[in-house]
Amino acid sequence: MSTATVSPRIAAIVDLIDPALPVWDLCCDRGVIGCAVLDRFPEAAVIFVEKRPRIVEALRDAVANRSGRQGRYRVVCDDVRHMPLPDAPASFVVAGVGTNLICEFLARVAHRDGDRVVCSTSQSPDRFERLTGEAGWRVVARRDVASRTGRQTVWVVARTDHASG
Ligand SMILES: C[S@@+](CC[C@H](N)C(=O)[O-])C[C@H]1O[C@@H](n2cnc3c(N)ncnc32)[C@H](O)[C@@H]1O
Repeated sequence: MSTATVSPRIAAIVDLIDPALPVWDLCCDRGVIGCAVLDRFPEAAVIFVEKRPRIVEALRDAVANRSGRQGRYRVVCDDVRHMPLPDAPASFVVAGVGTNLICEFLARVAHRDGDRVVCSTSQSPDRFERLTGEAGWRVVARRDVASRTGRQTVWVVARTDHASG
């Protein structure tokens, strides 16, 4: 799969990550986002995280099913609300889930420095921006993209109390 064939939402997410950092495709389901990252950026490393074991098993086969990805990814079966976080800065993508879960994850990484955090939900953009703003996050970049269900929004967010993002 190349980014030329992915949806506008996936393409926007891939545009907004930092491929120089390990990319954590959180709540990854079939891993479409992480696979698009691996295929677009030959040097990128991806950690796929999904909580449902049956999906994870299928995912291991699906990701391995393309040359050029070997040794550049891991597949983790875990819950993003509890999984161990990396010590080093990371490019986190938490997309395709609800605002409440995204906010729970953001609370886990609020103290960290140097991460790139890309979020997307099909739920209300206004509610997303209100809740994340109240939790101390600002919008660094925003893309509104067409989707099968209408429009979806992709954000890069950073802490209001951190200099960069
Ligand atoms: C709609 S899919 C989104 C897939 C992909 N992130 C995307 O945006 O296209 C949501 C996935 O998140 C997983 N998920 C939901 N809550 C989770 C959690 N707390 N930890 C890990 N995975 C979770 C679900 O099992 C499902 O596979």
